[in-house]
Amino acid sequence: MNLTIIGTGYVGLTTGTCFAEVGHHVTCVDNNPEKIETLLAGRIPIYEPGLEELVKKNVAAGRLKFTTSTADGVKSGDVVFIAVPTPPQPDGSVDLSFIEKVAREIAECLTPEIGYRVIVDKSTVPVKTGEKVAETVRRYAPQGVEFGVVSNPEFLREGCAVDDLLHPDRIVIGSNDDRALALMHKVYEPFVAPVLVTDINSAELIKHAANSFLALKISYINAVSAICEASGADVEKVAEGIGTDKRIGRQFLNAGLGYGGSCFPKDVKAFIAISESLGTPFGLLKEVERINGDQLERFLAKIREKLWVLREKKIALWGLAFKQNTDDVRESVAIRVAKKMIAEGATLIAWDPEAIETSKRFSGITEGIEYAPDMLSALDGADALVIATEWSHFANVDLTEIKKRLRTPLVFDGRNLLDPAAAAATGLEYHSVGRPAAGRH
Ligand code: UDX
Repeated sequence: MNLTIIGTGYVGLTTGTCFAEVGHHVTCVDNNPEKIETLLAGRIPIYEPGLEELVKKNVAAGRLKFTTSTADGVKSGDVVFIAVPTPPQPDGSVDLSFIEKVAREIAECLTPEIGYRVIVDKSTVPVKTGEKVAETVRRYAPQGVEFGVVSNPEFLREGCAVDDLLHPDRIVIGSNDDRALALMHKVYEPFVAPVLVTDINSAELIKHAANSFLALKISYINAVSAICEASGADVEKVAEGIGTDKRIGRQFLNAGLGYGGSCFPKDVKAFIAISESLGTPFGLLKEVERINGDQLERFLAKIREKLWVLREKKIALWGLAFKQNTDDVRESVAIRVAKKMIAEGATLIAWDPEAIETSKRFSGITEGIEYAPDMLSALDGADALVIATEWSHFANVDLTEIKKRLRTPLVFDGRNLLDPAAAAATGLEYHSVGRPAAGRH
């Protein structure tokens, strides 16, 4: 099939590339000429394992094209996906101006000669956006054009986006237009996954409800971790004990510093705003947010309690990205921990396998931090080590190196990556989340 993706950000680029990989002919459109030039030169503007190879392969095979022209995209694609940003507004509600603009642009490119087009919303949008998109296209399109509107939310995770896209758990298609549904079934024919067909509003709600539920799951275990700390229990054991119940499941029960990233914080806020605007306030999600914030504060309190004063302390910080396998520092809890420690006068020696450059450019931290050339040298002479992102590099470290290189053998592990007994046996004083401290303390 001929498909068009409008918006070549994270979702647009990865989705378009994976559609090409399964055999479709895909045109990716973006209004940023520099981005399109970069892509045409075979470079990708984001870090995502496996993506660059797939882009190169599918461009070479003639299945993946990049352009700045929406008109070309609308002309060539039987199905036109909208994958533009839906950023938060100061009150937590979603800014839909990019979606509205693209809907108008698509409408203006439609002609009766082009024929029927399916317009699909891929971006995460509040319930009822599809209705607005349909209204807008109808208003701005010339008389006599035919189109259908579909909601087809994306569930990819950064760091494993290619795998998530090629092997999804499910495909959600929301539409009440049979012609559109038939084409959408063809789009997803090459994928082996259950397809759930719903009305547009339900499909839109599924995305916000899914992400908020996952955030809730994380906050649930984080709240349990606080109770574990107060009672001397071990949150890892509790997570295992409840997670082996198939109805609950072990995934997303990793206690830590709380959730971050470009999706969960924004989507939880948006869902709260949507529920309030519909007159059905979702108070539970406000509690999820509160727990998420408290988790960070409890961890910082532990660091303060041990180091007493942070001023003039040198702290090794492992992790800057909002999670493992990404260079993304948007809403990163690691960056928030860093900022708080710097504000209290500490100097940080930071290292991350991928996010040093993005931290330099986007974290907003301009002083109080140095970036180490490698993981172990970040430790040299530091008063403590703080682990803030769940990279496997940190979990697999040789503990004796930590002991040897730190000035004082204090470790604060915000992601429960190390084994407390092994850390203690190496002579480290080890503090983590929701587990008893180990070693001298
Ligand atoms: C998320 C959803 O998983 C994905 O389906 C959706 O399309 C976009 O939002 P992403 O933000 O890429 O994906 O990352 P994810 O792996 O879900 O992690 C989000 C945050 O939760 C990270 O900060 C991570 O560190 C944290 N997390 C995750 C935990 O603290 N504990 C866990 O058990 C899992």
